[in-house]
Amino acid sequence: MKVTYFGQSAFMLEGKKIKALIDPFISGNPKCDVDVSKFDDITHIFITHGHGDHIGDSLEIAKKCDSTIICNFEIGEFLRTKGYKVHTMHIGGRFEFDFGKVKMTPALHGSGIFHEGIFISGGNPVGFVIEIDDKKVYHAGDTGLTMDMKLLEDENIDLALLPIGGNFTMDIEDAVKSVNFIKPKTVIPMHFNTFEVIKADPNEFKEKVTKAKVKVLNIKEDFELK
Ligand code: NI
Ligand code: MN
Repeated sequence: MKVTYFGQSAFMLEGKKIKALIDPFISGNPKCDVDVSKFDDITHIFITHGHGDHIGDSLEIAKKCDSTIICNFEIGEFLRTKGYKVHTMHIGGRFEFDFGKVKMTPALHGSGIFHEGIFISGGNPVGFVIEIDDKKVYHAGDTGLTMDMKLLEDENIDLALLPIGGNFTMDIEDAVKSVNFIKPKTVIPMHFNTFEVIKADPNEFKEKVTKAKVKVLNIKEDFELK
């Protein structure tokens, strides 16, 4: 599986039967110069919660590519009324798609959707355990450290995508604790340095993690998960 980083919490996952984006906040990201109109074959878009830096360019890309949006029930039903193709799930649920299994996991955060000048409910924020071509990726979404992460140890995660920027999510110290809970083989830090308030040094995180490999990806850099 090929994993490409687009900054903040945005990743592309490419497998034999899927080309997916997770939380594609790209055109609004001051640190990312990727032209969103170039995406023309995205099969699935995962959205972890309703905040703008996660829904991001999802709708524009989904409309263009006829992608299926995978998200919680509340965000999904809202998008269904707008004509989008959605597959809704909820926390603790697992579903087998043609590309592999997906499990929705809890996140400790908010999920309001800013819509026409007010916040509407986006249900609960989530993370995803996504299996593609026999590899398991955990995208934590935006979350604080939770004891629930200890349960992910049994999932045998190959790659964990974890926020480290603090203020809205885990900071480096808590993200290191989460690595010790989850015990993934490899970790990629995310949700840092996009804005001043989530400033963090990914190399400090790398030095502090002792129980997993840490791969710090630059924006637009990819990583082959073998
Ligand atoms: Ni958020
Ligand atoms: Mn966020």
